[in-house]
Amino acid sequence: MKIKKDKLELIHLPTPLEYLPGISKELGVEFYIKRDDLTSMAMGGNKMRKLEYLAKDALDKGATMLMTVGGAQTNHGRQTAGVAAKLGLKCVIVCIDKYPGEISANLLLDRLMGAEVVIQAPNGDPGQRDGLVKSLIEKYEAQGEKVYYLPAGGSTDVGMMGYYECACELTEQAKAMGIGDATVMHASGSLGTYMGLFCGLKNEGSPLSLTGIAISPFGPDKQTRLPEYFAECKKMCGFDWDADMSDFHIETEYCGEGYNLPDPRVRQAIYLMARKEAIILDPCYTGKAFAGIIEMINEGKIKKGQKIIFIHTGGHPGVNTPHHRVEFERELESGVTLL
Ligand SMILES: Cc1ncc(COP(=O)(O)O)c(C=O)c1O
Repeated sequence: MKIKKDKLELIHLPTPLEYLPGISKELGVEFYIKRDDLTSMAMGGNKMRKLEYLAKDALDKGATMLMTVGGAQTNHGRQTAGVAAKLGLKCVIVCIDKYPGEISANLLLDRLMGAEVVIQAPNGDPGQRDGLVKSLIEKYEAQGEKVYYLPAGGSTDVGMMGYYECACELTEQAKAMGIGDATVMHASGSLGTYMGLFCGLKNEGSPLSLTGIAISPFGPDKQTRLPEYFAECKKMCGFDWDADMSDFHIETEYCGEGYNLPDPRVRQAIYLMARKEAIILDPCYTGKAFAGIIEMINEGKIKKGQKIIFIHTGGHPGVNTPHHRVEFERELESGVTLL
């Protein structure tokens, strides 16, 4: 049973699927990359696919404002700000996070596109974020706005449709390139990208297999969320098949010390991709996932000669996040000669 839902057409699709000769030679695998960093709006990234569906839902519901949540350097917030700007909607990004100390990287781009950013330092209360969101929605609705709230990463049943569609696109491209039996790998955070790909590949009978790579510790919250999220998607799409934990494949051992922390291993992976292929990965998501792939190859978990399709989910403004930038500067300044 094919699934199709209405969406807005905001980006140029399909994104390219490219063979990377330099990385393939270096790592001894057949390495392909799906360029979802090139989703052509607000500097691109995976959230644009989800937002095509979410923004349609928002307009259908008469929204005048998009409100979402994330870290102070959220890529999802930046792409939501872009979509709001393009559609003439207001945008508020709510961040329970430490202020990064300056307005740069994604935070700067949010403001360039006219979004309001509210940052509150974490106070240890698990209900802090939802409480702040609730009070802000009340405030704006009292002023006459109609707020459409997007949870973290836009990872809802509606949002996952963006990656359901990507799964169909990828299956066709892979078939045309003779790599229909590859493994699709990507950085996984709020699970929307994974769930969309999972549902799309399975429901459309794709020969591609799927591995998510967790970029932060995969605790009990995520373990519970995965089957619960699938149940929501199954209900919305009306799938006549089921899935349980044994069907999901997310690698959880390559997330390093924690979310968005500087990591020399990740920086080395970023240098490798940049110096072999001129493709810029980010230190929070795609660089970490690529570092995980390199480790899996070194451990023999990924076999030599295996076909991999890595989804570049975007995030490159993150190289300018102050706490990452200082580490890059320290490692790279010796190559800058002042005459
Ligand atoms: C660059 C990048 N890659 C991957 C992800 C993870 O996507 P998801 O939250 O759908 O798991 C994100 C989420 O913010 C992201 O910004």
